[in-house]
Amino acid sequence: MQKERHSFSNSIGFVLAAAGSAVGLGNIWRFPYLAAKDGGGLFLLVYLILALTFGFTLLTSEIAIGRKTKQSPLTAYSKLKEGWKPIGILACVVPMMILPYYCVIGGWVMKYAVAFITGDNAAAASDGYFTSFITADTEPMVYGVIFLLMTCFIIYLGVNKGIESFSKILMPALLILVIGISIFSLTLSNNDGGSVRTGLQGLKILFIPRISGMSVSDVLVVVMDAMGQLFYSLSIAMGIMVAYGSYVKDEANLMGSINQIEIFDTGVAFLAGVMIIPAVFVFMGEEGMSSSGPGLMFISIPKVFEAMGGIGRFIGILFFLMVLFAALTSSISILEAIVSSFMDQFKISRRRATAIEFVIALVLALLVCLGYNKLYFEFSLPNGVTAQILDIMDYVSNNILMPIVAICTCLLIGWVLTPDVVIDEVTRNGENFQRKKLYIVMIRFVAPVMLFILLLQSFGVFSFL
Ligand code: PHE
Repeated sequence: MQKERHSFSNSIGFVLAAAGSAVGLGNIWRFPYLAAKDGGGLFLLVYLILALTFGFTLLTSEIAIGRKTKQSPLTAYSKLKEGWKPIGILACVVPMMILPYYCVIGGWVMKYAVAFITGDNAAAASDGYFTSFITADTEPMVYGVIFLLMTCFIIYLGVNKGIESFSKILMPALLILVIGISIFSLTLSNNDGGSVRTGLQGLKILFIPRISGMSVSDVLVVVMDAMGQLFYSLSIAMGIMVAYGSYVKDEANLMGSINQIEIFDTGVAFLAGVMIIPAVFVFMGEEGMSSSGPGLMFISIPKVFEAMGGIGRFIGILFFLMVLFAALTSSISILEAIVSSFMDQFKISRRRATAIEFVIALVLALLVCLGYNKLYFEFSLPNGVTAQILDIMDYVSNNILMPIVAICTCLLIGWVLTPDVVIDEVTRNGENFQRKKLYIVMIRFVAPVMLFILLLQSFGVFSFL
């Protein structure tokens, strides 16, 4: 006999867990950069509109699929419609591909937190520190494995004692840290050879729309950037929201929770902008914003903390702890998508499923680390970026497999089963589905077309640049 499925104890538990998944490295290291690059307020506006339409549609669909089927991503799609197992497989392969490198990056964050705590912050800001760390033989592996073990431990504890109770502590702590650092960032100013730059001037780069001189193709770049970012930021198309949705009680109000998850994720992304853009602008000028991802987080930002003087170390500790919390609540959600799939498919215990995935992720994570030394090579991705193993896994999962899963989800719900499946699930306790018409048009027409364009762009078929 299979044991009864666990469920989140209340909607706050669910919202914080799902928001914990959504709020991750993407919010912190990519959103501010895109906003600065793509016309400031214009990007924010496009992003908000897409969040309320496109993001809302996909998030609602996945959570509803989870709650309706009470199944993991691997088994949910075939339960909805016979013959649709392949999307389930894909929705399980994506997190299996993401987890190893996400843990390696989580290890990098941990290394920087430790460096700041132990007073190594000046070294961390020096040129070459990051490269010599990630190309080292054992240190990145050790940190990556510790991060993976922490993730496995939380998942082993289960839905309530693990995911829910950790999210209830880490997410409020994260929010307090982000708000605190944002306020601090706004108070900064720096006299750089006669001209004084202030945090409030930096804030203008984020919020004031810059549209003069923009061509149509520039605007399309903004839209595609915002869509790609949103998609990743909401943790959609990697099985996670299906898995978490399957733990939501039938009596819970899904629509209310979905709105809160979106507000949380978008709110933290905007706050990350307020936190990072003014600080980088004050100490490095507008050019400082030209990097994103690891370059921003592990090279530029430590230099900003160094330029702040004595208080920089303290703010740096808080910052890297905050990033660590964001990464951990995301990585547990990735692992849960996999573990729940193994449990449902093979009818094995949580403990065994976690142990199996630990071994798989461990091997792949070590390979990712070796990609910076023994297995180093240079591969050119369709978007022109030079890639190592980590970037290839990231590109294949995010830019190719995730749009495919999302397109198939739209086709299944929009055309094969009809949107009523999701609408009925969301309104099963008599709730009001506020954006029903919009949902139907989005899931059937707009979302699949937009996703298809995103996919073609990832294959390098065309580019708006
Ligand atoms: N949504 C997370 C972010 O914005 C990223 C993430 C990726 C989360 C993969 C879970 C799984 O950073």
